[in-house]
Amino acid sequence: MLDTNLDKVGIAFRGSGSYIPEQILTNADISKIVDTSDKWIKTRTGISERRISDKNESVCQMGYEAALGALEMADWSSETVDLILLATSTPNDLFGSAPSIQAKLGAKNAVAFDLTAACSGFLFALITAAQYLRTGTFKRALVIGADQLSSFVNWGDRGSCILFGDGAGALAIEACSDSNNLYGFTLKTDGYRGGFLNLSISDDQEEIIDNINYKKGKYRNITMNGQEVYKFAVREVPLVIDNLLKQENYKSCDIDWLLLHQANQRILDAVGDRLDISKEKVLTNLSNYGNTSAATIPLMLDESIRNKKVKQNDLIVTSGFGAGLSWGAALFRWG
Ligand code: COA
Repeated sequence: MLDTNLDKVGIAFRGSGSYIPEQILTNADISKIVDTSDKWIKTRTGISERRISDKNESVCQMGYEAALGALEMADWSSETVDLILLATSTPNDLFGSAPSIQAKLGAKNAVAFDLTAACSGFLFALITAAQYLRTGTFKRALVIGADQLSSFVNWGDRGSCILFGDGAGALAIEACSDSNNLYGFTLKTDGYRGGFLNLSISDDQEEIIDNINYKKGKYRNITMNGQEVYKFAVREVPLVIDNLLKQENYKSCDIDWLLLHQANQRILDAVGDRLDISKEKVLTNLSNYGNTSAATIPLMLDESIRNKKVKQNDLIVTSGFGAGLSWGAALFRWG
């Protein structure tokens, strides 16, 4: 395994921002379209409501608003940003949406590109950005997680439509020569189990000309084997966090906050229990937003910073997990 402690250059966390759409879809609303109930959804997932983008909202617009919040908190002018990474599975433009956020921000000196790793996307993007900073290539980066899964949910499938919502979050991180607040990380994928959760291209074909067909550029709805994804998460997430803490010489009792991808409250509780981290230290906003995919981690962190729950120098272990299958963890101090 690569040594992830090549910290000649360290990472500092300078700012955070987030955006949530206005429209609220409650469990009671969902129970009008599929056979479910508020009680069932709350008991099995911890979710009460989620936000749904309207026609004026999009990954670019939400990502832009979140990035703006992070820039303001960091007190950076957009022209000083070198790198913008957008983690998303639902870009406005399959050729890339990050450059359009770059243009909206006026970040004319930055390079911007998209990265897809589903619900692990923000973690993967954070670590990717950190590598550019650590090697001295870039100094300032905006890492954005934004998703609009509502466009791909099968609103007739009660096993999955209850879970997802839309939103965005962003962090401003900076290369730092005298200190390092990003201690270590692990990233993993297992494509052999990739069939448990998919948002795949449709097989629909049309003919261009006699006997030459092309696949229509259309995506299917999200398909999910909920039980298998649940088992995967409660097994792999504690393991990857436990190994990371050992690698970095920390114990779970040293952690101020457990910041997990917000997928299901039962997953959060099970991971917290397995790591012996008390409930008060497990950050959660699932009840209000459900699973916003690549946005959950920065959205949760931004809310916790702005409501003064997470403070300067707090030690945070975070884990993203989801389709791919993909998962991983990172250990950092805020600030
Ligand atoms: N309302 C009422 N009943 C529902 C329901 C709903 N929304 N969804 C499923 N059910 C029913 C099933 O049909 C099944 O009925 P049956 O026993 O008559 O066949 C029963 O509830 C149990 O289904 P099951 O799939 O075992 O439920 P579960 O306890 O595993 O909960 C999930 C389903 C989806 C909430 C849960 O598996 C889960 O959260 N998995 C992880 C998914 C996830 O986080 N994905 C994103 C990862 S990034």
